[in-house]
Amino acid sequence: MLTENLFLAPESLHSRSQQVILDNQQSGGGYLACPMMPDYQFSWFRDGSFIAYALTLDGRDAPIPHPAGIAAQWDSAGKFHQWCARMINERAEAVERSIERANRGEPLVIADTLNARYRDEGAAGPAEWPEFQLDGPALWLWALEKYVEVCRVKPLPLYWQQAVDLAARYLAALWRTPCYDCWEERGGDVHISTMAAIYAGLGAAERLVPTLNFETKRAEIKDFILTQGLTPTSELAKSVGLDMVDANLLLAALPDFGLLAVDDPLMKRTIARIERDLLADGHGVHRHTEDTYYGGGAWILLGLWLAWYYTQQGDTNKARMLVHWTESHVDAQGNLPEQVNNAMFAPSFYQGWVAQRGEIANPLLWTHAKYIIVQNRLKQGSLPVV
Ligand code: BGC
Repeated sequence: MLTENLFLAPESLHSRSQQVILDNQQSGGGYLACPMMPDYQFSWFRDGSFIAYALTLDGRDAPIPHPAGIAAQWDSAGKFHQWCARMINERAEAVERSIERANRGEPLVIADTLNARYRDEGAAGPAEWPEFQLDGPALWLWALEKYVEVCRVKPLPLYWQQAVDLAARYLAALWRTPCYDCWEERGGDVHISTMAAIYAGLGAAERLVPTLNFETKRAEIKDFILTQGLTPTSELAKSVGLDMVDANLLLAALPDFGLLAVDDPLMKRTIARIERDLLADGHGVHRHTEDTYYGGGAWILLGLWLAWYYTQQGDTNKARMLVHWTESHVDAQGNLPEQVNNAMFAPSFYQGWVAQRGEIANPLLWTHAKYIIVQNRLKQGSLPVV
């Protein structure tokens, strides 16, 4: 249940966010997406990568003492990276089969692909979940590189090297295959945000394991995005052939992605359309105009993501307005949900989802991670973007 307008001081919400994340890390290193919703009691590569990224920055800027002798945030992020490496390495044979099939131009066997989420101990969830999502492992490579750089992990443990090599070759072989997007929708399409994540993931993999070389592949992906991934009005498109944007296109300008600079005209046009079509005045950001999930409300993590983009642009005023909006949606326990239902695109769908899955996921760890990231960015002020 959301209690609106219960403002928590930024320092309290920051430490509450650290606590929500650390409390919901499992013994194997996975993070529950949301402890309250049964369907979310898994660890996603995507959610976890943003969480680990947040903790990597936070461990440097606001370290919490830990018996391991490093910041508690770094200890936690390291355990998550180990969990991801395990999920990937334990499926090495299946992943290799997918790579070989893709390289031979044969159809994919879904059972041989990586899932978007696993239980902490490694079990897969029910088969009907839209598990085939390529952005997750790609984002893991991006977050791992940041961790390795900031925490000076040298040399890269062999077990991690093995997982990086496998995940990167898998992404390089499958990059053009239609898959579900980061919202677990439209499994028959090719999504530009997924492509952007793969582009970044392959770049990170090269730097993590210098014997890997994806230069040609990355050039091909970038060319694909810039030629086939645009709307008729020259914004990045949600998916190939769609005249729509999606807030997930904020991915394209993330730090270290190396795809589009924050002030690249293409990125700026995309942001302008996101602001026009998806930024609900005073109510955060919707995912896309056809969203019906829980009525297609405004997502807190997307409001924060746009704030993150604004900090990269140096527009801290706009960023602070969105942060303030976020802070007005903290509940009595200091939790932040996935989305809020006071500005829905498709209100008639709301109750159906509540009946099927329960109340909107709250707390959502990924939302708390975005809050930490934006707070760290705001504190850095005019320092170079990291
Ligand atoms: C979202 C995904 C997310 C998952 C777990 C889904 O509803 O669409 O992006 O990874 O929840 O948080």
